[in-house]
Amino acid sequence: MISKEFGSDFHYYQSNVINAEYSIFNEEHLSLFLSGRAALYNLLNYGIEKFGWCKVGFPSYYCHEVVDFCRNLPIEVDYYNYNPFIHRSLDWEDDEKSVFISVNFFGISKLDTSFLKKSIIIEDITHNLLSFKTSSANYCFGSLRKQLPLPAGGFCYDPNKDLSVDLEVDNLSDKIVLQKLTAMLLKSKFLKDENIEKKMFRSLYIESEKLFELIKPDSAIPDILKKMIFQFNYKNLLEKTQSNIQLAKRKWRSNRKVKLLSSNQNSEMGLLLLCDNHKTRESLKGFLIDSNIYPAILWPNQKTKKDRFFEQKMLFIHSDFRYDNEDVRFIIKQLNFFTANV
Ligand SMILES: Cc1ncc(COP(=O)(O)O)c(C=O)c1O
Repeated sequence: MISKEFGSDFHYYQSNVINAEYSIFNEEHLSLFLSGRAALYNLLNYGIEKFGWCKVGFPSYYCHEVVDFCRNLPIEVDYYNYNPFIHRSLDWEDDEKSVFISVNFFGISKLDTSFLKKSIIIEDITHNLLSFKTSSANYCFGSLRKQLPLPAGGFCYDPNKDLSVDLEVDNLSDKIVLQKLTAMLLKSKFLKDENIEKKMFRSLYIESEKLFELIKPDSAIPDILKKMIFQFNYKNLLEKTQSNIQLAKRKWRSNRKVKLLSSNQNSEMGLLLLCDNHKTRESLKGFLIDSNIYPAILWPNQKTKKDRFFEQKMLFIHSDFRYDNEDVRFIIKQLNFFTANV
């Protein structure tokens, strides 16, 4: 990269490719979909039809677009009051026709669901993609574009290999994938100082994000996306992300104003920061943007007071495979400078 700027959406990223045969996405247990939410929709639909699932519960602290996408299914959609960084207990009626969505939050925290004896557990592993091998949930699903530089894509993991869904080719899925790829390609040119204006790709990213809400759940994934999914050397990429985060953790200086939340399993998706209050968060955000580091708020528009309280104090900084050691040192240097002077 020549233009130094950190965070936000993935640009078009060419990693060394692998033979599709060796891809984990080639597993019989995995089914691919156009997005993470479409993967969950189809899994729920299958469970409703095959096992008579009646109710699905999501944690209150979550990406609510996923919940809204599932609302037209013939199943009661509910929330349980849970934020991984605040609550430690929750209220849930354990029933064999109920589905409990357990979320792996940022690769840092997930609920111990061993208290559930009857409910079906579906784990959202968007933030820790490779964990489906070790998950004790009945099913897993995830979105591929949060940890990997893919324009779209989602998957379901069914250990019983029973899930089967008929998907249909449609124009909108081609449009989303091509539009997002165009944005990613323009961003990579921008980062190489190839005379591209930022607004050209920003609007394409924002527009395609809105289109995800409109896709038909049974849309097949376009061939170009399938090819990208199967050829990515995801293992290399995710290992580089992990080593960047370990470096960041070693360089981080603890302080009273901003906490770096972490996992002792070294599975963090990025740098999750918790500020002492909203004012510190806002000034940190401004400071980072002035340093060309673009943090994210995951997720905006929380619904309960407690969840909004967390939302207003947190920031997420990408430190993935896009960056080398020098980049990570720069990000941490800026953070340490801020916390020493705030
Ligand atoms: C944790 C989590 N799960 C699932 C999704 C849905 O993925 P997709 O946007 O691919 O539908 C998102 C975000 O959009 C997410 O943040």
